[in-house]
Amino acid sequence: MKKTTSGILLILGSLILLSFIPKLKVIRDGSPKAADQNVMPADLKPFFENHCKPCHFKGGKFKALYKVNFTKWDDYGSKKQAEKAKNICSVLSDESMPPEMARKFNPKVIPTKEQIDAVCKWSASLQAATGK
Ligand code: HEC
Repeated sequence: MKKTTSGILLILGSLILLSFIPKLKVIRDGSPKAADQNVMPADLKPFFENHCKPCHFKGGKFKALYKVNFTKWDDYGSKKQAEKAKNICSVLSDESMPPEMARKFNPKVIPTKEQIDAVCKWSASLQAATGK
């Protein structure tokens, strides 16, 4: 009887511990945040998919992925996201991304001013949230 009780307690204890595991990912970079704050906003996702594919998504160019990997965006820590978003706002504003060749080959990838503004606004909100 005693054995069963401690067995049950052990199982309960493990279940409680397991329930904490998803939260560990969030505190990885030392800045605890609600998990959903690290997720790419749904209204920007299609923009990056339409303008930065294939280079900055899974299967893209190594050098591009090293700088920004949108497939892994939600796994970046908040500080990394803030830094990368700042860089993204800057390369869109100075027109260095998408690269010249991509712009010539398919002018549809050239972002509009409204799109750039939306990205930079989002970037600023990430800077504000992380104090960067
Ligand atoms: C045709 C492929 C291609 C497309 C499309 C493209 N990029 Fe890039 N991007 C690259 C490559 C290659 C690099 C690495 C350049 C290097 O380091 O020399 C890069 C680098 C970057 C960097 C890092 C710049 C730096 O020097 O730190 C940012 C930020 C970036 N891209 C954002 C974007 C965004 C945002 C889009 C979509 C609006 C985009 N890119 C579209 C190929 C692409």
